[in-house]
Amino acid sequence: MADMDTGMRIGPVSAAPLTVIDRHPPAPDVLAAVRGGLAQQPRQLPAWLLYDRRGSELFAEICRQPEYTLTATELALLRHHAGPLCAGCPAGTLVVEFGAGSVEKVSPLLEALAAPAYLAVDISASALQAVGRRLQAAHPAVPMLGLCADYGTLPDLPLPADWRDRPRLGFFPGSSLGNFDPAEACRFLAGLRPLLGSRGQLLIGIDQPRDPAAIEAAYDDRAGVTAAFELNVLHRLRRELGAEVDPDGFRYRATWEADRSRVAMALVSIGRQRLRLADLEVVFSDGEPLITEYSYKYAPAAFLELAARAGWQGLDRRCDDADGFSVHRLQPLAAAPDCSASAD
Ligand code: AVI
Repeated sequence: MADMDTGMRIGPVSAAPLTVIDRHPPAPDVLAAVRGGLAQQPRQLPAWLLYDRRGSELFAEICRQPEYTLTATELALLRHHAGPLCAGCPAGTLVVEFGAGSVEKVSPLLEALAAPAYLAVDISASALQAVGRRLQAAHPAVPMLGLCADYGTLPDLPLPADWRDRPRLGFFPGSSLGNFDPAEACRFLAGLRPLLGSRGQLLIGIDQPRDPAAIEAAYDDRAGVTAAFELNVLHRLRRELGAEVDPDGFRYRATWEADRSRVAMALVSIGRQRLRLADLEVVFSDGEPLITEYSYKYAPAAFLELAARAGWQGLDRRCDDADGFSVHRLQPLAAAPDCSASAD
């Protein structure tokens, strides 16, 4: 593909059919990130560490657990309300999905739009290829591209010339915004404005606070899949960084923290023990938590306040019967974002 003004490599990264634009950032310094998190109180690991190959398989399994209703609820909403959610999007709209995990979720949008195109942005070229293959088979007439990049830090969308004038519809499903703290979430949403343009719209799935027991069960399923997912991070530290740590010395715990409107996921030390990593030695006391991730939940009004600080205005909201999950449709506000008031 030619006529790109950004100088990045572009071309198929494998024999698979999806063309992937390569803007992969340098590999993160995992050791530095882990070191920083272990120095915090409570100790915490970066949530992105959860998604190695095994972690991604386990996450897909979490989405099928009966307690984790988020995925099925959002899918049903998208299937039932794709028409109104795409209202106001002209023919030729480019759907830009942030993350590449939702063939089933984006399909209703591609069916509701007239002559759409599709761009998936993901850090993993193999995830883009896997999703792209299935999506292209399901929608052979829709032009598609992948962009291998960190969507959290992308300054612009490096599109081919004949795609640049397409109006854009951003798509960020799965309540993944909830894994950022509120200040990061504000900055992330603000950063989507230049990517989607002044005519752009954004569809975003947001999980809401509800019965604490149901939320804790969603994050600690009976089959133990979430526990295995969270504990896998310790196996990853051993495998990739040579950490000396005993995963059996920790048990998984999910706690709903109502005052922060978030679920805290933690590995709790069973007894006093040491974790050694490079030149670092960390002593965990009995019962001390190691936070693996937070999942913030936003009631509709709280989400719209956050979105407004990030420069977005709500146009529509579709929710399930229990009003526990929403898909919001947003458009940019004229005012510039101001995330200074978005504290954790
Ligand atoms: C990816 N993210 C939206 C999930 C969530 O619900 O916060 C991650 C997750 N972790 C354990 N279960 C689900």
